[in-house]
Amino acid sequence: MTLPVTVPAPGLPARVRIHEVGARDGLQNEKSTVPTEVKAEFVRRLAEAGLTTIEATSFVHPKWVPQLADAEQLFPLVSGLEGVELPVLVPNDRGLDRALALGARRVAVFASATESFAKANLNRTLDESLAVFEPVVRRAKGEGVHVRGYVSMCFGDPWEGAVPLPQVVRVCKALVAMGCDELSLGDTIGVATPGHVRALLSLLNEEGVPTDVVAVHFHDTYGQALANTYAALQHGVTTVDASAGGLGGCPYAKSATGNLATEDLVWMLRGLGIDTGVDLGLLVATSDWMAGQLGRPSPSRTVRALSHKEQ
Ligand code: HMG
Ligand code: MG
Repeated sequence: MTLPVTVPAPGLPARVRIHEVGARDGLQNEKSTVPTEVKAEFVRRLAEAGLTTIEATSFVHPKWVPQLADAEQLFPLVSGLEGVELPVLVPNDRGLDRALALGARRVAVFASATESFAKANLNRTLDESLAVFEPVVRRAKGEGVHVRGYVSMCFGDPWEGAVPLPQVVRVCKALVAMGCDELSLGDTIGVATPGHVRALLSLLNEEGVPTDVVAVHFHDTYGQALANTYAALQHGVTTVDASAGGLGGCPYAKSATGNLATEDLVWMLRGLGIDTGVDLGLLVATSDWMAGQLGRPSPSRTVRALSHKEQ
């Protein structure tokens, strides 16, 4: 298999943790619902490829995201995977109840930097949604569960346009103050560019949010996800969200397309000599298999380039 030559660049981390979101962010947006056993096989294969943080599903209202309505059936099928963390999304107390009942040890609440998306995604104003999250985070922390706080629309919003950075920082600080262990900065509609990423990370630092609690979550709508990731790595970010095969989007933001493809990320990191623990060949084979299940080719450039079917 073709692999990039490794040539390190200065000022970058030695290791990056990939937070794999394909099974959640990817499959939540599929028109058809993928069978539970296929999802479980997807997660198992991602683990075999060396991914150690695999976001498995969401305990949201099944009417809001029918594609993930099988969370109760799926989670037990994959929860025994050795050395693998399986974060799940919880929008409220009911979601946390469901996740804890199945033994989840990592959960994520998901806030928005804008009013419009809070309303569209959570049926609440921004401040109402933060008020819902506060007891969820407190209870999860009390149970020793790791909590991630997503912030969507950090760089732009389909209804509101540009999003002022202080507005994003306010939400980030609120999540940290609640007790979130980690933040994930979402470019839900993929409009960010590298200078914008640097500016947000710098403002967060100035406002007391350290880079080591920050992960980045880029969608690749305008082909900027890798450039944005590089900017984040230069700033010291070491956790990067990505989706195997570039699956993804958000059902409540029509302009959200696929996430940064994990294979494209691994290709770049490998070339830079940054350790991820991921076997690119096994990962490509997994995304190729999943593309077959979904009946269309992967949008990932690296999957297409390395896929045996297309050689
Ligand atoms: P709501 O309709 O306002 O809910 O929805 P409610 O609180 O009024 O409750 C209504 C009924 O729903 C009640 O049942 C609740 O028990 C039930 P009833 O008493 O009428 O029989 N209910 C639930 N049932 C199961 N599980 C639950 C749950 N909660 C309430 N967790 C709600 C509010 C938050 C539930 C809804 O808006 C929702 O589920 N939203 C989820 C949307 C979603 O999953 N979006 C995609 C993920 S975010 C994303 O993709 C962005 C990200 O990738 C980062 C980025 O790219 O930016 C993370
Ligand atoms: Mg997303």
